[in-house]
Amino acid sequence: LSLVVLISGGGSNLRALLEAAADAEFPARVVAVGSDTDAPGLAHAEEFGVPSFSVAPTSFGSRDEWGAELLAQVRRWSPDLVVCAGFMRILPPVVVSALSPALINTHPALLPAFPGAHAVRDALAAGVQTTGVTVHVIDEGVDTGPVIVQREVRVEPGDTEAELHERIKTVERELLVQAVLDIANGHVDLKETAAR
Ligand code: GRF
Repeated sequence: LSLVVLISGGGSNLRALLEAAADAEFPARVVAVGSDTDAPGLAHAEEFGVPSFSVAPTSFGSRDEWGAELLAQVRRWSPDLVVCAGFMRILPPVVVSALSPALINTHPALLPAFPGAHAVRDALAAGVQTTGVTVHVIDEGVDTGPVIVQREVRVEPGDTEAELHERIKTVERELLVQAVLDIANGHVDLKETAAR
């Protein structure tokens, strides 16, 4: 299974996929990494000898023009699956309709709880005892697509956003690798998931 992974930040989820894929037994390969900026996480791609590209929204007159270019860059690699791992942009409909359901995202909350870009902060502010991680198919909404897998993460008293997010990420990296593995070996059928 060939993957294109899209990131915006540090890329620890990307790194987990790169490390898993470095094992010849793992049935998926990261063929390219894309970003909306010169994300620090692109350094992981370089370290693993994986090509990368950046498509900055600021260089385009509209979101749809940005989306069209991002889609063109992704398609150059003919991926079987596109994985958004800390990609902090909403994909325009032109991208989602072209790629979904072979387009998944990882989100640091138990969707539908706490959608959006501040899920960890929102969970803390809500005072919940338990939050978690969701890997889902991206549909035309924001963090609304059908869930592939979720796992709970305890909130500890006195957690800062950073501490809770790090605890979430330790689970998230494992869950994302497992989700890609299940998709690669057919245990998860994305068309079936999306049709649910
Ligand atoms: C992840 O928790 C992801 O779910 C969220 O941002 C974080 C990105 O972390 N959208 P990293 O860049 O993979 O380290």
